[in-house]
Amino acid sequence: MPDKCTLHIGDKKFDLPIRKGTVGPNVIDITELYKNTGYFTFDPGFTSTASCKSDICFIDGDKGILLYRGYPIEQLADKSNFIETAYLLIKGELPNRQQFQEFSGAIKNHTMVHEQIRSFYNGFRRGAHPMAIMLSVVGALSAFYADSANVNDANEREISQRRMIAKVPTLAAMAYKYSIGQPFVYPDNELDYIENFLNMCFSVPAFKYKINQTISHALEKIFILHADHEQNASTSTVRLSASSAVNPFASISSGFSSLWGPLHGGANEAALKMLKTIGNVKNIPEFIKRAKDPKDNFRLMGFGHRVYKSYDPRAKIMQKACHEVLEVSGKKNDDLLKIALELEKIALNDDYFVSKKLYPNIDFYSGITLNAMGFPTEMFAVLFAVARTVGWIAHWGEMYSDPENKLNRPRQLYIGKDKRDFIDISKR
Ligand code: ACO
Repeated sequence: MPDKCTLHIGDKKFDLPIRKGTVGPNVIDITELYKNTGYFTFDPGFTSTASCKSDICFIDGDKGILLYRGYPIEQLADKSNFIETAYLLIKGELPNRQQFQEFSGAIKNHTMVHEQIRSFYNGFRRGAHPMAIMLSVVGALSAFYADSANVNDANEREISQRRMIAKVPTLAAMAYKYSIGQPFVYPDNELDYIENFLNMCFSVPAFKYKINQTISHALEKIFILHADHEQNASTSTVRLSASSAVNPFASISSGFSSLWGPLHGGANEAALKMLKTIGNVKNIPEFIKRAKDPKDNFRLMGFGHRVYKSYDPRAKIMQKACHEVLEVSGKKNDDLLKIALELEKIALNDDYFVSKKLYPNIDFYSGITLNAMGFPTEMFAVLFAVARTVGWIAHWGEMYSDPENKLNRPRQLYIGKDKRDFIDISKR
């Protein structure tokens, strides 16, 4: 493998270093390109650009491989739990028993939010989208926890990371409760992370909520699957906003904003809505036809991925969890599942989808699963964001310990007017 490549511009030659990754594609280092040549590179959508170096997560989109710190997602979903996975993503290694106790104990210590935060919720109309509420209240944490907002202090960074993992589920459950007009439920630290979240979402003062182990295990898996995915849109947004050295709560709230879109975290909500719109297996051909029509902007939601050009490894685990949840929730013969299975079968055998390497992604089955668990569609992106908070905060921490970290400031290809003189309004 060469350690440099040569760029020819006119009759001039420029050597560009090649940096090697552990696995996956190596990169051509263009950091000195502008200084040495006067040229920028052009890559809208970052399809060929590595924006940073990272040792947290690896994806091989062609082979359908996803590793967190080297561990395959299948093994983590099967054998780990969400808090252990969070420790792994943040610290780089699986915790021993003592490290796990200390970490999970610290997360529990931070589950409550300042009582004054409750009044923020009252400012929203009932029925507000819980993700709209989350954008604001997560950012508002910076008004309450300024004592851990110094990004240049490693100790404060660690406290913020733990606060974020602990408090985001509490805020998410409050957003849900507010949107349906039920009283907030305080965290119960006798419960584990997932059970506590389910309890805060589904218990009411009048009834004791009984946690179903199949549901809680499935949600644990869903959280592990969503915890990180290298430099996706929302993680890159968090990194970019954090590069200005803004406080961590403000950076994470920008991750919520980016994740909400239907091309990213909003896709599971969109996928479920699409299945409901299809309504019946017999209508599938019509929707397949629309998805293939270049003049129609309809897309099969839950299909395709920027990185995976084979089956998303998370979708396989998700499909299994989906069957388990539908079984316990008495929805085994659910019409939506029937439509999803048939749609998947037809698309996987259709030349359009095969040639464009469009396979089901994680969102294809997560919507049906979360729906069967009792979550409304509006909560899907919120649940995704609760899990991804761990990835965001791991990348955020990595960024600050990287000596190469600097303010992220992309450049552009300017195609506007050249310099011209102002014309007085009377002469326009
Ligand atoms: N249905 C129909 N056609 C599709 C779909 C789809 N779901 N996805 C891509 N295509 C087609 C495009 O029309 C395009 O066709 P063309 O080459 O003839 O113009 C081609 O496949 C490539 O699509 P792009 O949009 O250029 O690919 P990109 O990598 O930018 O898009 C994306 C990836 C945004 C995820 C896309 O596949 C999509 O919109 N999918 C549906 C939304 C979705 O499920 N998002 C969830 C992503 S996973 C996540 O965030 C957890």
